[in-house]
Amino acid sequence: MVSRVIPVDAFDLVLFGATGDLARRKIWPGLFHRFLAGQFNNDSRILGVSRSELSREEFQDKVRAALEPIEESEHDCVERFLSQVDYISIDATGDRGWKPLAKAIRPDVIRAFYLSVAPSFFGPIAARLKQSGIATDDSRIVVEKPFGNDLKSARALNAELRTYFQEHQIYRIDHYLGKETVQNLMALRFANSLFEPLWNSSHIDHVQITVAESLSVDGRGEYYDQSGAMRDMVQNHLMQLLCLTAMEPPSQFTPNAVRNEKLKVIEALKEVPIDDIARGQYRAAGEQGSYREHAGNPNSITESFVAMKVDVANWRWAGTPFYLRTGKCLRERLSEIAVYFRNPPHMIFPGIDTPHGNVLVIRLQPDEGMTLHTTIKDPGPGGMRLTEASLDMTFADSLKDSEKPQDAYERLIMDVIRGDQTLFMRGDEVEAAWAWADPIIASWTDRPIKPQQYDVGSAGPEDALLLMHKDGRRWRTIGQ
Ligand code: BG6
Repeated sequence: MVSRVIPVDAFDLVLFGATGDLARRKIWPGLFHRFLAGQFNNDSRILGVSRSELSREEFQDKVRAALEPIEESEHDCVERFLSQVDYISIDATGDRGWKPLAKAIRPDVIRAFYLSVAPSFFGPIAARLKQSGIATDDSRIVVEKPFGNDLKSARALNAELRTYFQEHQIYRIDHYLGKETVQNLMALRFANSLFEPLWNSSHIDHVQITVAESLSVDGRGEYYDQSGAMRDMVQNHLMQLLCLTAMEPPSQFTPNAVRNEKLKVIEALKEVPIDDIARGQYRAAGEQGSYREHAGNPNSITESFVAMKVDVANWRWAGTPFYLRTGKCLRERLSEIAVYFRNPPHMIFPGIDTPHGNVLVIRLQPDEGMTLHTTIKDPGPGGMRLTEASLDMTFADSLKDSEKPQDAYERLIMDVIRGDQTLFMRGDEVEAAWAWADPIIASWTDRPIKPQQYDVGSAGPEDALLLMHKDGRRWRTIGQ
């Protein structure tokens, strides 16, 4: 199976924050890979923008370093790629650099402005782009997370952006939506007839959504301590996974049809009682510092782990809880959605009350793929005994000949150029997610509740286990 690369039309992509961490780690390598794949060619250009006064050559050296390691065979390509990369130093809140940008941008190609900068710059940059005539009515503006830190600030950001750009021009990134398996979840549900008839509370007992990370917050503690797992991961990434798992089939795969259905899921979420939430903070272990050390805040009550039981109060899901959990410094990096089907209504095999249930596990990372746990006969003589066996599919094996899966950013940037907003969050969706998250966060901060300590390399705090046990269920294992 060979995947097709459909070239995009010529563009000028203006990248604000072009020397920043995200640009270095994700955006430049992503663009280069798309160039290598032939998705755009020499009629497109990327204009890096930042405050630093750098020559074009100095800037290109930085981009070259971001593309390391480069294979021998790719050296020529790097130079060809860099010949399409230019640099302008701009003072985002002052006058410097805007005229050169207006001059550099071409009239007859797609214009996209990628704001890989702090949210406080979104408004000022959007205003300058519009007022100077650099942004036209069909230009695109891309903004990174965090999109606000509560409903009020998200509303203010939306209002600011919409003063200068229309909703169909605004691309709010949640990079989880660009992950291959996240889109596969939609393909699995809506391009197969096997699962959808069973995809409801009559057949599904519960769903577990896990995004476990082994990394600590060392190096970004200052940001993280203001945010915590709830704002950093649940309000956005886990929420998107929940939406795609729970949403009704859209009538078409178009941006607004898909986003309308996701919004309905968020609006159907019940308020989560405090007893249905477990919060944790990792403690020091050996060489590894504690969360509080990494956050530089000895009294921090910010959570580096959160688990909760969420109810989607609608016809399809009443009675089927969704359990979400995410945390730092856990045993392993693992992201997955596990759908637990109900047991058969009646067991015909004597002496066996509960068979090994059917669980469909959709693995986002690492090792992207799907496993369906089934019950089969335990082989050999000796009567009818049952055992568990799985139908396993690792996408990398099944799609051997196809192009290496793209990083989320590669896909998302090309979608911006194509003008496809399906994998970007709409303003109302972001606000609805904050409206749901705000009371939860307030319940922790109003009467300060300390998170429970957990060991680095564990599966999280004890309370997370109890959250499941009290419902007679168990989390899937994280790591060995
Ligand atoms: C980011 C969070 O949005 O997502 C980080 O700010 C987190 O804290 C990261 O580590 C996880 O992304 P991924 O793609 O590595 O799972």
